[in-house]
Amino acid sequence: MRLACWVCLLFPFTAAAQVQYNGANMNRPDNYREWIWLSSGFGMSYSAENANPQFDNVFVNPESYHAFLTTGTWPDKTVLVLEVRSSKQKESINQHGYFQGDSARVEVHVKDAERFPEKKWAFFVFGESAKSAAPAAANASCFTCHEKSGAVDSTFVQFYPILRNVAMQTPPKKLCEFPGFADPKLAEVTQATTAYYGCSAQTACLSSNLPKGEPVLVYTSEGDWTCGYHSDRNGAAPVWVRSQDIRSVAVETSPRLDAWAGTWGDGENHIEIQPSKSAGKLDLVGDAVWHGLGDNVHLGHFEGTTAPTGNHLHVSDDGCTVDLTLLGKYLVTDDNSGCGGINVHFAGLWRRAGKR
Ligand code: HEC
Repeated sequence: MRLACWVCLLFPFTAAAQVQYNGANMNRPDNYREWIWLSSGFGMSYSAENANPQFDNVFVNPESYHAFLTTGTWPDKTVLVLEVRSSKQKESINQHGYFQGDSARVEVHVKDAERFPEKKWAFFVFGESAKSAAPAAANASCFTCHEKSGAVDSTFVQFYPILRNVAMQTPPKKLCEFPGFADPKLAEVTQATTAYYGCSAQTACLSSNLPKGEPVLVYTSEGDWTCGYHSDRNGAAPVWVRSQDIRSVAVETSPRLDAWAGTWGDGENHIEIQPSKSAGKLDLVGDAVWHGLGDNVHLGHFEGTTAPTGNHLHVSDDGCTVDLTLLGKYLVTDDNSGCGGINVHFAGLWRRAGKR
């Protein structure tokens, strides 16, 4: 016990001590070469500044490296250093290839939510002999490129061996932003995998298993992960799934009329679709129920007769509108929240009744 406390006193575990600030400026970090080396790039060009191929070496403070290995993301107070060096050749015994020359500049990418509340991250560029540097402006190209193309939390983990494999195993630490059912694209699970939902920077994701063949409506992807929507008898949620475990499914965009026919959904929530007496049209009847606390039950209902346009149907019934898209074996619906009591919805991914 006593020894442990002595250690604390001698090496205070304050990650903030990785770098020192002087007002708004950061002092050039001096011991980063004793940190963890992530990778080196050679001739990776993203600024037109220098036509000669340069080496870059990426370092991170050890505490953040170890945190990344277990969580797949960067904790607050992470400091990443990009050291850019010239390349040299044909010196000493060297005949072919390149070796690293003298340091050209040091760039720092630091996560500090307290100091940089807006973006959480800041960038600093230290010229060859600069002892201190001001933070890059919020509209600097550093932010644009890193936020758009960096695989994990605006960092280029896709180029760092070891870490990119760790990142592949852990879904993004944020909610999969679900844009609704307006333009659904269908994919299916190609090998049993895990769906992660409710992820955020503060809380770990919840997960459920997705068997092979399960449908997922897909939206965007980030790094190795796809943000999609899945529903089954256990529930429905926007989820993260590994992109390599799903593949997109082509669907008939002008299905025959009888491809729509049947009962979609489960016992309480269902949509009945039948060919209508008027040629080329379909009769639809939908019923939905929402159970709140106690005896609180809300009901929803719509009906209508309409002709499909391609694989879309639009039903309008006394202030309630429902849009349906037939995606092969699945029906995707969206409504205007006007089809019944509060919380009753005809929105989701439906299967034929009895075929769950
Ligand atoms: C056009 C894209 C682009 C722009 C603009 C850009 N970077 Fe980067 N940055 C990269 C890439 C790619 C890497 C990965 C380098 C490697 O793999 O060796 C990287 C890596 C870094 C790293 C290492 C840590 C990390 O975040 O992955 C730092 C630090 C860094 N850049 C700082 C800056 C600064 C400062 C600016 C603005 C002056 C900037 N970058 C602008 C593409 C960009």
